Amino acid sequence: MADLINKGNQYIKENADKVNPEYRLTYHLMPPVGWMNDPNGFCYYKGEYHLFYQHYPYEAKWNTMHWGHAVTEDLIKWKDLEIALAPDKEYDKEGCFSGTALIEEERLNLFYTCVNKRKGEYAQEQALAYSEDGIHFVKHKNNPIIPSSLLPDDIYTGDFRDPKIFKEGDTYYCITVAKDKEDTGRALLYQSKDKINWSFVSDILPKNKDFGTMLECPDYFKLDEKAVLFFSVIDLKKDGYRFINRQSPVYMIGSYKEHFFDCEIWDEIDMGFDFYAHQTTLTKDGRRIMTAWMQAWDEAMPTSYLGHGWAGAMILPREIILKGNLLYQQPVREIKNYRQNGQTYQNLLLNEKSGILSLEGIYGKSMELNVIADMKQSDSFTIHLMKTEEEECLLTYNKKKGIIRFDREHGGEKIESVHFEKPSYREFPLELENNKLKLQIFIDTCSIEIFLQDGLRTITSVVYPKKKGYGVAFSCEGGVVLEQVEKWDIKL
Ligand code: FRU
Repeated sequence: MADLINKGNQYIKENADKVNPEYRLTYHLMPPVGWMNDPNGFCYYKGEYHLFYQHYPYEAKWNTMHWGHAVTEDLIKWKDLEIALAPDKEYDKEGCFSGTALIEEERLNLFYTCVNKRKGEYAQEQALAYSEDGIHFVKHKNNPIIPSSLLPDDIYTGDFRDPKIFKEGDTYYCITVAKDKEDTGRALLYQSKDKINWSFVSDILPKNKDFGTMLECPDYFKLDEKAVLFFSVIDLKKDGYRFINRQSPVYMIGSYKEHFFDCEIWDEIDMGFDFYAHQTTLTKDGRRIMTAWMQAWDEAMPTSYLGHGWAGAMILPREIILKGNLLYQQPVREIKNYRQNGQTYQNLLLNEKSGILSLEGIYGKSMELNVIADMKQSDSFTIHLMKTEEEECLLTYNKKKGIIRFDREHGGEKIESVHFEKPSYREFPLELENNKLKLQIFIDTCSIEIFLQDGLRTITSVVYPKKKGYGVAFSCEGGVVLEQVEKWDIKL
């Protein structure tokens, strides 16, 4: 088992140039070959941002998890590194699942879930690996440091994972997620003075049967004066327009005192189809940056079923900002350094006679598109994205209903729901500001990320166009003033 890292690295070396380039993204992180899911251990260490991820190098399908690894100086341009963790110990031989990083002086510590089988039963426990160079990791000799024997009696040993580690004063804390024997998702807090010997403290949230059958991938941090918790929640009860996917990314804002999180407000963090397992780090200049897996578990992945040899990507990293009790998201400002070939139009009048209007120079396979539309005289405005004669995705604002809708039904390759029916569109209420709709849209080959009203809401989805025209067009009812249409190619 000892050589699993070398074996994986060798495989990647020999096979990375065999992946089918058709849907490879240009400014998003993807695995060099094989499978990627959750971001792990996102951190800033010795002058670079490190991002690890759930990885199976040998196939574009989920399997025994490794930790893939990439670094970047500016959160945009990534460099692939060697595999950081492979399932090469008895206690993690069923996989090295998700976790987080903690930097202490020269040392980069990774806390991850080690999965094993005891007497035929799966056990998930927590383990520690550390490194002095940020590339080669040593697994601690006392692993698993949080064994399943430290679980409260009412928790399944098979669902106890995704440690989020942090330090307050001289005490280390670890939030882990778990499923209890009544199929309710729980968030458990452990504490330790030395990172090796842990004890159970409390549930940090009240038990709530309506809050999913399993929580995954917790993150916890302070933003301004508030405490923020992230979870990715399985089977969260649908609520009108929210939580439509089988697994939903959630944020909670409140206060954290005496080992208990008091939630004041919580919501879905992204209203698209493909955003999960979000995790953050602090930049050297103090910004809170989030990444996430740009994919959902409950849908088929074209690059996998078409045999392209790779599957999964991360979102464009986003800064998160609190305005009052609302969480805003902005693409990291470093993306601006990669803008090229700018095209701008101002104050264009669009009406029903314009039909479906495209504008010279406004299209692109890897681009940023910024639009401000004044809808004072209009009830409905649509942007057609990734458009050709036969294919397109539609983003429509219906002013009478106050609803924005993203529809990928005719986007290209089929993205079938795996477990249950889900519609090909998502829609939700959104307020205009002085009748204006403000959009910032990032397209990259097979992804669409939309920031609405300065990042008050976002919609992230994968779309695999077969025709690859990557056109853009506008249509409306009544008259819309396109105050601004601005496009850049994004080139690395
Ligand atoms: C979330 C998740 C985690 C787990 C990992 C396994 O997407 O299910 O809870 O650690 O993926 O790959």
